[in-house]
Amino acid sequence: MERTLVLVKPDGVQRGLIGEILARFERKGLKVVGLRLLNVPGPLAAEHYAVHAGKHFYEGLVEFITSGPVAAVALEGPDAIATVRRLVGKTMPNEADPGTIRGDLGISGLRNLIHASDASDTARAELKLWFDEGQLLDYDRAIDAWIVAED
Ligand code: PPS
Repeated sequence: MERTLVLVKPDGVQRGLIGEILARFERKGLKVVGLRLLNVPGPLAAEHYAVHAGKHFYEGLVEFITSGPVAAVALEGPDAIATVRRLVGKTMPNEADPGTIRGDLGISGLRNLIHASDASDTARAELKLWFDEGQLLDYDRAIDAWIVAED
């Protein structure tokens, strides 16, 4: 089992696409184990995108992610990191394949709807950045609890 972080960026939230995007992950079989809706503070944005500091698009990226509410989602499943990246599609929506989220729903480079962790070390670090330990659901334990509650 793996966990990964997805951010539905301000364009996705403003366009009312949180449900559509999460539905694609859920239909695939990934479990939502964490969910937050927030306005991103500057320091959090800077830390999240620290790896890109100095690149020509860095300022625009931070400005965009702090421009409106974001949905932070922790997903769990087998091979979750690569699976989510495949479902999301290439960075530039005009190059992303039809059938992917960016390919079906996006058109511009900056407004590409989603961020998704790209490797296990970044997924671990990003989940820690966006969620406190206690905010992530232990799914197996939750399912046990539901079964007990139904008895
Ligand atoms: S890199 O340099 O290969 O690591 O960059 P890449 O993975 O393609 O993109 C990293 C994040 O920067 C965003 N990006 C851009 N935003 C605006 N304008 C331009 N030209 C641009 N190029 C890349 C890209 O969407 C990635 O954001 P996240 O949120 O991580 O998906």
